[in-house]
Amino acid sequence: MIITFATQKGGTGKTTLAIAFANYISVSSKRKINVFDFDFQKSFYHKWKEDELMDIPKLYDVEIIEEENEQPFTDFETLIGLKESEDINLFDLAGTLDVKYSDLLIYSDFIVIPFEYSNVSVKSTLVFINFLGLMESQAERVFIRSKYDKGYKYLNQESMDAEIRKYGTLLKSPVFKRNCLQTIDTRKLNYEQKYAVKNSFTELIDHINNTLEINL
Ligand SMILES: Nc1ncnc2c1ncn2[C@@H]1O[C@H](COP(=O)(O)OP(=O)(O)OP(=O)(O)O)[C@@H](O)[C@H]1O
Ligand SMILES: [Mg+2]
Repeated sequence: MIITFATQKGGTGKTTLAIAFANYISVSSKRKINVFDFDFQKSFYHKWKEDELMDIPKLYDVEIIEEENEQPFTDFETLIGLKESEDINLFDLAGTLDVKYSDLLIYSDFIVIPFEYSNVSVKSTLVFINFLGLMESQAERVFIRSKYDKGYKYLNQESMDAEIRKYGTLLKSPVFKRNCLQTIDTRKLNYEQKYAVKNSFTELIDHINNTLEINL
């Protein structure tokens, strides 16, 4: 299966959530996890390389997809192979729309879309949803409120939530703004980090299981 963390808006927490999810699912699932960093900044990959210095074994491998080396998509069958595989193939994308992402966005099983309620983020999220619609992507869209501030009253939350629900599943549990998530590594979630993502990821995994009728 393919699960892609994407949205057009930069800095919404795609990489943070992708790392957290990769770590979380590595522990909770028996399946093999493969991570593909499809962002030219290669944040996930750099972090994973940096973490080699840690005295903790790696949970998964991270592969970069270079501009000049468009693997694994030069060959369309490879993409379908990843989709049909029992492995959990996670992709982290850049915060920009690019035609090179089209096939992946069309053939992902799930696109996880972190978003915030700022005006810029709302607009970008809606543009991204439109983009997916234009591409006729069949991927299930899962929206996660990211960096959510419990003490803040988001005036546009109700209208934004209603709009988003037309296009996919909005997870009930937000991922709150937490300092502990700023120091995440690719080897292990500490107790605080796990606690910060647990509710959202439980919902996400339940949703994946129900949609595909599997048991991750
Ligand atoms: N829940 C959170 N609480 C606090 N800080 C967060 C949270 N999620 C992400 N951040 C911080 O926000 C910044 C952007 O996060 P991240 O790099 O994950 O976003 P991104 O969507 O991958 O960005 P880009 O579009 O550049 O790839 C980072 O400094 C990260 O530590
Ligand atoms: Mg990123």
